[in-house]
Amino acid sequence: STNKGMKIVIVGTGYVGLTTAVMLAYIGHNVVGVDIDEKKIELLKKGKSPIHEAGVEELLASLKNNITFTTDLKPNVGEADIIMIAVGTPAKVNGEADTHYVEEVARTVAEGLINGHTYTVVVKSTVPIGTNRRVAHVIKKTLEERNVKSTVYIASNPEFLREGMALYDSFYPDRIVIGSEDPEAIEMLRRMYRPILEQTFDPPQAIPRRDGYSLPPLITTDPVSAEMIKYAANAFLALKISFINEIAGLCEKVGADVTEVARGIGLDTRIGLRFLNAGIGWGGNCFPKDTAALIAVGREYNYEMPIVEAARRVNQIQRERTVEKLQSVLKGVRGRTIAILGLSFKPGTDDVRESPAIDIIRLLIERGAYIRAHDPVAIENARKAFTTEELQKITFVNDPYLVAEGADAVLVATEWQLYRQLDLKRLASVMCTPILLDGRNIYLPKEAREAGFTYMGVGR
Ligand code: UGA
Repeated sequence: STNKGMKIVIVGTGYVGLTTAVMLAYIGHNVVGVDIDEKKIELLKKGKSPIHEAGVEELLASLKNNITFTTDLKPNVGEADIIMIAVGTPAKVNGEADTHYVEEVARTVAEGLINGHTYTVVVKSTVPIGTNRRVAHVIKKTLEERNVKSTVYIASNPEFLREGMALYDSFYPDRIVIGSEDPEAIEMLRRMYRPILEQTFDPPQAIPRRDGYSLPPLITTDPVSAEMIKYAANAFLALKISFINEIAGLCEKVGADVTEVARGIGLDTRIGLRFLNAGIGWGGNCFPKDTAALIAVGREYNYEMPIVEAARRVNQIQRERTVEKLQSVLKGVRGRTIAILGLSFKPGTDDVRESPAIDIIRLLIERGAYIRAHDPVAIENARKAFTTEELQKITFVNDPYLVAEGADAVLVATEWQLYRQLDLKRLASVMCTPILLDGRNIYLPKEAREAGFTYMGVGR
């Protein structure tokens, strides 16, 4: 290939790190994936993915030669051209993102750099405003302490990939954002991403191609703006969903159908159709954490963010409202059995972090309900999300029809494709009372009613 492979070390093999590593190896770079979690690295060495993500294992199998995995960071950075930091930034109690892993990695990286070499260190983790500056400072200080003179350029390169679509989004991004004070860093990353920017790679078979796709723009800016772009993007998407959920609540009162309203407003290109699906609310590792972190940044500067706060409040209310709907249709949920279809925070992933389904189950149990729950891949993770007492009230079932057996109501919490294809008549027939709360609006109300259900959706 015309693209000479670069040596890239990626620290952190979570969703962002692993996906990026696999993509970069696929487009011709020599990649080392590093993680302190020995179990993850053991799996990866065997070609197994520690995350449930479409295409990762297929691509890993085709990549044996230019991707390796290790728990050893320091000895591997010396010969690298680019070092990407993609470790987690968990939330602290006050909502602030905890960057100490990022800074620890920066220090360890600096401890492994070699005199006279030139490196580009890239921050890919979602980090609060000012973190790039701190990373630069930690590296500079460590090099001085070691009396090592290497040239280190720093860049912020936020990631916009979605779980479940992570590789697709990496190969076909809407845009690539690079924030740096060092033109050399921007040039290095432009070269690293060239096959993506120019779309010259052989499309991997395991990943669907993106229809009507044109070349992704490269946005180069300063590091602080890059950090802000990431937070602002997630906050905007979260509030777009909360907005339609708020409208959905009013639709229910006045007798409108929010899916019609969403289409009617979304076709205005200034608004856009995507992320206007009303439902039981947003979850996952990103929107909840990033909106909290953005508000925390504001607080640090004595700046209020009422819109972002409202988006979070609406999201909480949405979960409570789901429980209230069940309470009211069942005249109280105490002693009732509720079947839950879907536990992950969205389809295509086994991730249950901040999943509305988990929260709703907890609220239902608090009110005395019994739960039967199904998910095609997330049951194992869900089990770990509950307390021992809560688990006594939950039966996990591996079949979507069996889960509804004897239930007083069924709630669709995650819009898995599998649930769209259910035989609703059969589902209704095994229930004690055929009540369906379609928390993701995946069925046509008319069809559900014809199948014998008392149907409730969100906003219709
Ligand atoms: C989100 C962003 O979409 C990515 O661009 C970003 O890179 C990522 O966070 C991140 O910061 O790492 P993700 O959390 O994987 O990605 O999931 P989304 O597909 O955005 O869904 C988030 C939540 O919103 C899910 O619970 C989903 O069910 C909900 N949602 C989404 C709705 O309720 N309605 C919609 O119309 C869309």
